[in-house]
This record gives sequence, structure tokens and C-alpha cells, in this order.
Amino acid sequence: MEARSREGWGTRLGFILAAVGSAVGLGNMWRFPYITADRGGAAFVLLYIVMVFVVGVPIMLAEFGVGRRARLSPIGALRTVGGPRLAGLGYLYVATGFLILAYYSVIAGWTMRYTLEALLSGFTRSPSEYFEHTATGTGAVLYHIVFMAITISIVVGGVKRGIERASLVLMPVLFLLIIGLAIWAAFLAGSGAGYSFYLRTDPAKLLSPDTLSAAAGQAFFSLSLGMGAMLTYASYLSRDENLPASAATIAVSDFGVAFLAGLVVFPVIFAFGLSQEIGESALGALFISLPRAFIGMGAAGRIVGLVFFAALFVGALTSAISLLEVVTSSLIDNWRLDRGRAALGAGLVIMLIGLPCALNQDILGLFDQIAGEFLLVVGAFALALFVGWRMSDPLGEVRRGFASEGLLRGWLWIVRIVAPIILAVVIYQKGRATWELLRTTLF
Ligand code: TRP
Repeated sequence: MEARSREGWGTRLGFILAAVGSAVGLGNMWRFPYITADRGGAAFVLLYIVMVFVVGVPIMLAEFGVGRRARLSPIGALRTVGGPRLAGLGYLYVATGFLILAYYSVIAGWTMRYTLEALLSGFTRSPSEYFEHTATGTGAVLYHIVFMAITISIVVGGVKRGIERASLVLMPVLFLLIIGLAIWAAFLAGSGAGYSFYLRTDPAKLLSPDTLSAAAGQAFFSLSLGMGAMLTYASYLSRDENLPASAATIAVSDFGVAFLAGLVVFPVIFAFGLSQEIGESALGALFISLPRAFIGMGAAGRIVGLVFFAALFVGALTSAISLLEVVTSSLIDNWRLDRGRAALGAGLVIMLIGLPCALNQDILGLFDQIAGEFLLVVGAFALALFVGWRMSDPLGEVRRGFASEGLLRGWLWIVRIVAPIILAVVIYQKGRATWELLRTTLF
């Protein structure tokens, strides 16, 4: 069927860094610390780790298996391994990609603006007014467009010369920045109070199904699961890659960056006595409280702030690349467009879909809830059922290069039973929350 030669990764490291680049993003540096502090501290971190390794990694492996077996982007891949009806799931993936990137790019635009601001003029005196003025309106539209243009320009370059090359440079930079920041934060006077706030243990909160679905949802978003990003990246892999080892490496790195981000954010906020503000809003924690703390630190704060927002921007960029690649590769495989046109066309449409998010924060929140919280878990649930119960010889694809037959059997049963049960609970929870938000926002 597919006779054309397919692009591929140049090196194993290139693939790993590109996939880690997809995973590490705003979800790690902005959502994770906030959710953890809000949901029970260290106890939540443990629950999150369980979710990542018991549900997330197995689902990632399922995506890898489908992608590498079919060597096609989601729509074609799911059609190849599962027949025409399953192609519908591929369409859902592509639609989810459009929606996520549309609002993700708006937030990424803010990080770009904050980075430039820190570099050129320092943070302004009243961060909350500044945020109001930055987050929505013409400025937000402008930065959203510039961010999409950068993303498009990398995806146009192709898998090896665009995505892989960018990841090989950007990811080490990001690791260095975040590790440097965490070490610096440890020496702040008052950092101890930040740590104990971040990791204070409140096991009572863990017992609600709400917290379970928060942990699972965060794991899926952070690992870029449920919409075919990992599937697409695996479709460019060679046959002898060890998939379980790759999935574990990606998950450990992703968790590491998320955890480190919390070790930066909370000491900084607490060192400046801004702790009362944390509860106000997730967005506020990052774009208002932190700049306020950076201003309080004078010249050093400007440098640290620059580094922090630059790290956020880099993380957002490599994630956006993977989102655009899902859509682009689908246009290439299914509609036979060349890469340049596919990336540009898809990017322009996403730019347009993102405009309402740049003009209205409620709409941005709605997009996040629908696509980033709800559709992802639906997509993962359907994939788990398919790979667990319908796909022919799922173990065959995942087994190559991997020795432990026992772990492989365990994997299959997780994909068959454990993941679908947990995901069903999460879908119920998120479905209700999404419906509520839809009602209150639209009517
Ligand atoms: N994982 C990224 C983050 O944490 C976001 C992201 C990129 C994503 N690609 C995705 C989320 C695919 C879901 C699906 O910021």
C-alpha cells in the first residue's frame, strides 16, 4: 500500500530527546507543581508516580507498538492495524491535536513574551495588571502567531533535519536551565518553607476519585498520550528499537523535570512571602506570583526570571512541534501533501482556531478542558481496548529487543484490564467536569 519511503530518526538519542521534548512542556513546569501543591503534596506525588508507571507507560507502549508496526501517522496506522472503523479514532486524534495546539500556542506565546520582557526591560512593577494585559488581546494574538510560525518552521524541516535537530539542541539546554534553577533555589533564604508547602503530605485528599482523575489526567497530558503524538514519533523508528526501555526513559525524564520545576517554583514564591497567592489561580502562580518574586530579588531576579521563562518557552516549543507533527504527518500520509504544504496549511488553521483563545481566557480554559483533559483520556481508553483485545499479536511488536517475558505479559493485562478500568473512572469524572464548564461558559 504505502510504497513511498518514509522519513525516520537519525539516531536513537534523537528519537528519545524528541519524545522527551514532546512530553516535557508547560504541563511539567506549570501544571504539575500547581496540582501537587493543591492536591496533597508528597502523597499526590506518589499517586502520580503510580499513574505514570502503571498506566502511562503501558499506554505509551501501546502507542509505540501501533505506530511502529504500521509506520504511518495515526489515521493510516489505526486503519492498517484495526480496519476502517478504527480510522475514526485516528480522526479523533488529529482533531484533538488541532484543539490542544490552538490554546497551547497562546500560553506558549505568553512565555515568549515574558522571556523577551525579562531580557529587554525587566519585569514590570505590577505583574497582575501586566498579566491581564498580556494574556488576552492583540498582544496575545501577535505572540501566538509568532510562536506558531516558529513551530511551523521547524516541522517543515522534517523529522531528522527539523524535529530531531532542534531536540538535540533544545533539550539539553532545558535540562541545564532547570537543574541550575533548582540548585540556585535551594540556597534561597526561606526555601525550606517552600519545600514543606510543596511536599506537605495530606493523604486525606488522595481518597477522592477527583484526585485520582487529576493524577491520571496530568499523567496523560504530561506524557503526551491519548492523541497519537507518541504513535507518530514511533512510526519513524527502526524495527530493532527497544520500546519498553524507551518508554521508561521518557517517563523518568518527564517526571524528573516536573518534580524539579516544583523545587524551583515554591522556594521562590515562599522566599518572598507570596504564599497566600498560590491558591488564587493556576495561571497566576506562574505568570503573576513568580514575576513578583523576581522583582523582589532585584538584578538577580531578572536573570533568574529570564532563565525560568526561557526554559518554559523551550519546553513549550518542543511540545508544540510534536502536536503539529501529528497533524502534518496525517496530511502527508492520507492526503499526499508534501511536508511543506502540510505543515504550513495545518499550522495556519491552528493559528486561526487559536485566535478565540487569545482573545478570551474563558474560551482558552474551555479548550483545555475539552481537549487537554477529556478527549485525551477518551483517546487512551479506546486505544487500550483495541490493543488489548483486538490487535493481532500486540506482544510481537513490543517484544523485540526486550527480554522479560513476564513483564510483557503484565503489560498486556494492564492494557486489557487495569488501564481501561482506571480510565473509565477518569472519563466519568472529566466528562462531568467538562459538561459543567461547557454549560457555565456557554449559557
Ligand atoms: N506533554 C506536553 C506538556 O506537558 C504537552 C503535549 C505535547 C501534549 N504533545 C501532546 C499533550 C500530546 C497531550 C498530547 O506540556
